[in-house]
Amino acid sequence: MSEIETLKKWIDESNNIVFFGGAGVSTESGIPDFRSVDGLYSQKYKYPPETIVSHTFLTKRTDEFFEFYKEKMVAPALKAKPNKAHYKLAEWEKEGKLKAVITQNIDGLHQAAGSKEVLELHGTIMKNYCDRCGKKYDVDHVLASEGVPKCECGGTIRPDVVLYEEGLDMNVMEKAVRYIEKADILIIGGTSLVVYPAAGLVQYYRGNKLVLVNLSETSQDQYADLVIHEKIGEVFSKL
Ligand code: OAD
Repeated sequence: MSEIETLKKWIDESNNIVFFGGAGVSTESGIPDFRSVDGLYSQKYKYPPETIVSHTFLTKRTDEFFEFYKEKMVAPALKAKPNKAHYKLAEWEKEGKLKAVITQNIDGLHQAAGSKEVLELHGTIMKNYCDRCGKKYDVDHVLASEGVPKCECGGTIRPDVVLYEEGLDMNVMEKAVRYIEKADILIIGGTSLVVYPAAGLVQYYRGNKLVLVNLSETSQDQYADLVIHEKIGEVFSKL
């Protein structure tokens, strides 16, 4: 049996699939990932992107933070449409086969495809709030603002995104752990699995159907029961 046929069989037989993904899930929607050769971190900037997308940068160099954030992270995501991988996951959830999508992505494409139970470990560009009074703002308001988005109270409107030096929402993490612990199949897709604590979630899986669908090798390939090094949208469209 080919790897795709094995995966298809496992999926057909399961009603407790959990998906855990990253930026590679959205590259086929036209959003560059971070660490591939054509990814965001390989492009040349005045500062390394890891530095720009940090809490220090948001507070100390707010203008430059928003210039990068709006142009490189928000604008491409708002232009993008879900691809076959996003749609397939939403379809499985509707059929009662998939319990949750756990994602490191902040682009909102799983919800755009119709997924309901989406755990966004690194937050979302869609939600924004004033760092002084807490007032909420949508993403269009942030993108349309000139320079640093300002609240009517004078505070800065910041994205509900987990920046470097900031902690993850522990409620979301714990929920993700519970889904993974109970999962029959854990499909991991489009993530280099190098950013912690998110990457550490893999350790909570107790089953024997750990599937990795990633274009390049990852440090966790050796632990997977099935490894497919192909584009995830193409793989999922065959399922
Ligand atoms: P990475 O850019 O580190 O990894 C994306 C992975 O997806 C790479 O291993 C690619 O080979 C693979 N890939 C790309 N296109 C693919 C496709 N069509 N099908 C299958 N695989 C594909 O992105 P993440 O692992 O998501 O954090 O990065 C994790 C975190 O690092 C991000 O959430 C972000 C970043 O810093 C924050 O912003 C806090």
